[in-house]
Amino acid sequence: MNIVVIGSGNVASHFSSAFVEAGCRIIQVYSRTSAHAQALADTWAAPAITQLSDIDTTADVYLTAVKDDALEAVLSQLPPTLNGIVLHTAGSVEMAVLHGRARRYGVLYPVQTFSKKKYVDFGHVPLAIEASDAETLESLSRLAGLLSGRVFLCNSEQRLALHAAAVFACNFTNYCYSIADDLLNEHQLGFDLIRPLIRETAEKVMQHKPKEVQTGPAVRQDVQTMDKHLQLLQGHPDWVELYDALSRQIGRS
Ligand SMILES: NC(=O)c1ccc[n+]([C@@H]2O[C@H](COP(=O)([O-])OP(=O)(O)OC[C@H]3O[C@@H](n4cnc5c(N)ncnc54)[C@H](OP(=O)(O)O)[C@@H]3O)[C@@H](O)[C@H]2O)c1
Repeated sequence: MNIVVIGSGNVASHFSSAFVEAGCRIIQVYSRTSAHAQALADTWAAPAITQLSDIDTTADVYLTAVKDDALEAVLSQLPPTLNGIVLHTAGSVEMAVLHGRARRYGVLYPVQTFSKKKYVDFGHVPLAIEASDAETLESLSRLAGLLSGRVFLCNSEQRLALHAAAVFACNFTNYCYSIADDLLNEHQLGFDLIRPLIRETAEKVMQHKPKEVQTGPAVRQDVQTMDKHLQLLQGHPDWVELYDALSRQIGRS
């Protein structure tokens, strides 16, 4: 199967590797920044382009993985006559954005966090799929099945909720790790000290509902402890605001 990759960031890079591992061929890479397009294209000995007017019209699949806010503008530059399936990978963007932009289209949303620095085994990544018609759904389902053992149907409304859930579970959590890192560093302590705690917190929710295993001063309503923490954090009003908001929500749950 021949694939054109549109975008050269985290998701475009990881999907490209997974496609190649599954026996597909990357035949072209587009990105608006020439050096980025070239870097990813070189990995697969494919041509790089920076103008969508130069797109290879013979591909079976066009995988679009650009910044959510740029998706419509990028799609609007695709020739409307493409025969291949045009896909986007965004959790929060409805499939309808592709309507009128391609004959056959769909969504391939990976429920995972991707950074170029870190290898991800695609075989375990849940892939949410949605397609324009039954025939395209069958093709997309087959393609997704080459990449992962966990492919499921998900409409645009469900996908938006899934994406918001992922923001809570991953992006916000990671931001809290970053606050913890800064706080530890301010007190000459290393982030390594809390890595076992982070691992155990994540492992617990593999077997239990998060609410059942919530610990900490907010769930115990240890008011004096929370006051001490707020006092300690006075130099960081943003952290105080977040600590207070989260503690109040945990206390009410
Ligand atoms: N990262 C994740 O964990 C993850 C997980 C699931 C789904 N997604 C979705 O995957 C998509 C890509 O995310 P990502 O993490 O790969 O992003 P990223 O690493 O930040 O890469 C963004 C890509 O978008 C391109 N871009 C940015 N602004 C553009 C514009 N105005 N016009 C054209 N291209 C533009 C960039 O091009 P240049 O750098 O070449 O200029 C780059 O190739 C998003 O829809 C995101 O919601 C991400």
